[in-house]
Amino acid sequence: MRIGIIGAGHIGGTAATLFARAGHEVAVSNSRGPDSLAPLVTSIGRGAHADSPEGAAKFGDPILLAIPWRRMDGLPPRDVFSGKIVIDAMNAYSAVGRAVDLGDETSSEEVAKRIPKARLVKAFNTMGWKTLETGSRPVGEDRLVIFLAGDDPQAKSVVAKLIGEIGFAPIDTGSLREGGRRQQPGSPIYGPPLTARQARDLLR
Ligand SMILES: NC(=O)c1ccc[n+]([C@@H]2O[C@H](COP(=O)([O-])OP(=O)(O)OC[C@H]3O[C@@H](n4cnc5c(N)ncnc54)[C@H](OP(=O)(O)O)[C@@H]3O)[C@@H](O)[C@H]2O)c1
Repeated sequence: MRIGIIGAGHIGGTAATLFARAGHEVAVSNSRGPDSLAPLVTSIGRGAHADSPEGAAKFGDPILLAIPWRRMDGLPPRDVFSGKIVIDAMNAYSAVGRAVDLGDETSSEEVAKRIPKARLVKAFNTMGWKTLETGSRPVGEDRLVIFLAGDDPQAKSVVAKLIGEIGFAPIDTGSLREGGRRQQPGSPIYGPPLTARQARDLLR
């Protein structure tokens, strides 16, 4: 697949590395421009190039959103996401690192309002980037879980396959609203590295 990465810091840069290692092509982007991403592109090697956020979004399907949630207004125009699978890895934190109180809403529902025609899947939200970087395990071993949620079953199956390809176990927590809520900061599955059995016990 060709995967666009918007936000190439801890999570975006790590995911891009894992996706490329699994044989996919990745376009990485950030707010400072492609030249600033030369070290990351060099370290990933084959299959990686840097682009603008809009260029990465046009290149990829799926597209990974890994920028600070509070900077969502800086995303490319909504039309470039239309019809594409968009993976929302963003968690709603303020600039001082406090979880934003969204009342009855969930963070990915807010993202869906910003890009309404995207096929949105919430994933890569609960695992710290260091675990993502080092926690990949071969098939047959007790893999760590990456959760996903969304309202488009086909989009979720594409993302689940991708999660398996990079050495983790996908677990679907449900719809964008309720499944998304289960993945938000403060929930029992948010933060700790979990095997599938541990994750299912906590979700029960
Ligand atoms: N860190 C974790 O362990 C972790 C785990 C799960 C989920 N998350 C979520 O993942 C997201 C990224 O976190 P992170 O820790 O990877 O942050 P980070 O290391 O600070 O990286 C953020 C990236 O977003 C880019 N960026 C900011 N605004 C942008 C814009 N308008 N357009 C394009 N790129 C933009 C930054 O580019 P510049 O440097 O050029 O500004 C940088 O590459 C957050 O929403 C966070 O809640 C993080």
